[in-house]
Amino acid sequence: MKNYILKFILFLCFLPVFSQQNDIDIKVDELIKKMTLDEKIGQLNQYSGDNTVTGPITINPNKQNEIKSGQLGSMLNILGVKYTRQYQELAMQSRLKIPLLFGQDVVHGYKTTFPIPLAEAASWDLNAIELSARIAAVEASASGIHWTFAPMVDISRDPRWGRVMEGAGEDTYLGSKIAFARVKGFQGKKLGDVDAVMACAKHLVAYGAAVGGRDYNSVDMSYRMLWETYLPPFKSALDAGAATFMNSFNDLNGIPATGNSYLQRDILKGKWNFKGFVVSDWGSIGEMVAHGYSKDSKEAALQAITAGSDMDMESNAYRNNLAELVKENKVSIELIDDAVRRILYKKFELGLFDDPYKFSNPKRQKAALNNPEHTKIARDVASKSIVLLKNENNVLPLSKELKTIAFIGPMVKPKRINHGFWAVDLKDVDSTYIVSQWEGLERKVGKNTKLLYAKGCNIEGDDKSGFQEAIAVANKSDIVILSIGEAWNMSGEAKSKSNIHLPGVQEDLIKELQKTGKPIVILINAGRPLIFDWTADNMPTIVYTWWLGSEAGNAIADVLFGDYNPSGKLPMTFPRDEGQIPIYYNHFNTGRPSINDDKNYKSAYIDLSNSPKFPFGYGISYTTFQYSNLKLSSHKINSLEIIEVSLNVTNSGKYAGEEVVQLYLRDKVGSVVRPIKELKDFIKVHLNVGETKIIKFTIDKSKLSFYNDNLDYITEPGEFELMIGASSEDIRLKDNFELVE
Ligand code: GLC
Repeated sequence: MKNYILKFILFLCFLPVFSQQNDIDIKVDELIKKMTLDEKIGQLNQYSGDNTVTGPITINPNKQNEIKSGQLGSMLNILGVKYTRQYQELAMQSRLKIPLLFGQDVVHGYKTTFPIPLAEAASWDLNAIELSARIAAVEASASGIHWTFAPMVDISRDPRWGRVMEGAGEDTYLGSKIAFARVKGFQGKKLGDVDAVMACAKHLVAYGAAVGGRDYNSVDMSYRMLWETYLPPFKSALDAGAATFMNSFNDLNGIPATGNSYLQRDILKGKWNFKGFVVSDWGSIGEMVAHGYSKDSKEAALQAITAGSDMDMESNAYRNNLAELVKENKVSIELIDDAVRRILYKKFELGLFDDPYKFSNPKRQKAALNNPEHTKIARDVASKSIVLLKNENNVLPLSKELKTIAFIGPMVKPKRINHGFWAVDLKDVDSTYIVSQWEGLERKVGKNTKLLYAKGCNIEGDDKSGFQEAIAVANKSDIVILSIGEAWNMSGEAKSKSNIHLPGVQEDLIKELQKTGKPIVILINAGRPLIFDWTADNMPTIVYTWWLGSEAGNAIADVLFGDYNPSGKLPMTFPRDEGQIPIYYNHFNTGRPSINDDKNYKSAYIDLSNSPKFPFGYGISYTTFQYSNLKLSSHKINSLEIIEVSLNVTNSGKYAGEEVVQLYLRDKVGSVVRPIKELKDFIKVHLNVGETKIIKFTIDKSKLSFYNDNLDYITEPGEFELMIGASSEDIRLKDNFELVE
């Protein structure tokens, strides 16, 4: 009886949601019945505004008329309440007054810019990451945006690929957790709330595994690797309620993702039962002709709609061909209706039919884009994203009473660069609000501290004429801070690089400044792991600052002066040389593993160590942490049981700080070979000086399962090694347990 009562109570709780869905379904069906074929196809089209373009533009002077005649369902790159209202007014002149959807790449903030996603991933702070997305949604939705093309959840093990800056790095577990957090942040309590935007998990799938790290290049991998490594973050985004997905430019095993029904119909809309809609990436439907998969735009349209790509971004393939394909009975009207239904459902869910202008409120926009709370949060997230790589002589944290500081380098004074790639290009907002690295220090240091500046050199090129000034400034100082790296637009879309060493003569400048004998703090700004072997070996103090957003200067100053004790951990492996790529921590052992760089007849390079320069999960603090007292509730379980893991972590140093305690497992023997270790959980914990906390993890079936050769998601009995680490290589505690049938 109790069971029935519980079920009835649950039904009552969910009744409002079910009834809303039924209500919307009815409205969608009624509207579809009124629509002409052209109006239906109109909903499947999306064009870019001319404010900023994020792909090869297709000029369409007739855009406004097409909106008035219901030939367009969505636009992107239309920014602000003024312009979104103007375009929405055009749509309200159409016969059925179907509102437009406004999409935008709000990837790491709208006006308030947060660290690039790869930097945020380095925080390992899921609450901070969700909050960052939440603020982005509040600002974007107040500016007329309904839909962000984020989170990008592509796993990548190749730092030559410029878009690693946009994702969460190389690890599936961390990437899946972050995907979930970001979707929750963007979509807020529920879609339809005026501060929520639709999320868009992209790019389905494996775009980050492009051959050679070359953007848009082919991807070829086993379906087991696809399920094991690249698909889980998309499933995690779906579990978080992602309203939309975007497919990807790459071909996967010879079939372009945009025309790939295995991905979009079998997996996403079939096995995973996704009810939202899929948007193609910019022009990717039409690009199937270039792929050699479609003989012409018409065939591309047929293949894409059949494969489940609902909305056509910027290729015009649907607009130019779908009506004819329906009339020729090559595309069923049911297929069109399914895509239209998915899109209209979201427009109803967002409340746009009730009020097409609900997101276009100038007062709300003004308040949202000038909220000091957003700035404070951005500074906090940025501080948490910084990774301390070296601090050998404990030069950091700096004293605020230092007499003279030389702040040198091409990254010191510019403002915009701190946004990194994929910042929203707000034409009518000046960039003075962005805190440069110089301003951050100026505001931080005491009134008796003198700050000296020299650019030293450019990011690129071989001009060393600025070296002398830099050396002179260094010689007048007590300490040198040198801010270098790659340019903000050397990573991002279409920014793959064959050489990811520090560009230009920056490392030469470091060598010259080293000769002054002054203590030097190196800040490295980048959207990817860079290679800086000599610097890493010879300079004692190195801080990886990525691109930290509009509060970069303040966050960097907070860390350098110890107002925030750095807690970041690398979300990607840092190679010693491009020749090692792809290099990642969760690799297989091979039959001839190179242990301790033994190279003879081993899987090793004869000219370089196998090991990375800095491993996945690595980052140090101003304090130290001791791990002890590892306990397992059991050392033998079956797949229905769990193991409670506990350990003590103690702050054994002189500063309060946070530690990311990482749990790795190794399945020692399997029906397919298993990685030497896999991240299966982590906890970020704050500890005061001398404080000890008990950290707890639970091992259950989900942490022991994997895809076998038949693509069954299973567990297999056998020995497991459990590792607790401060990084993937700094394993502090170990134990073993057995999984039995
Ligand atoms: C770009 C990107 C995609 C982005 C879209 C719209 O080409 O690949 O991530 O969301 O076009 O700007």
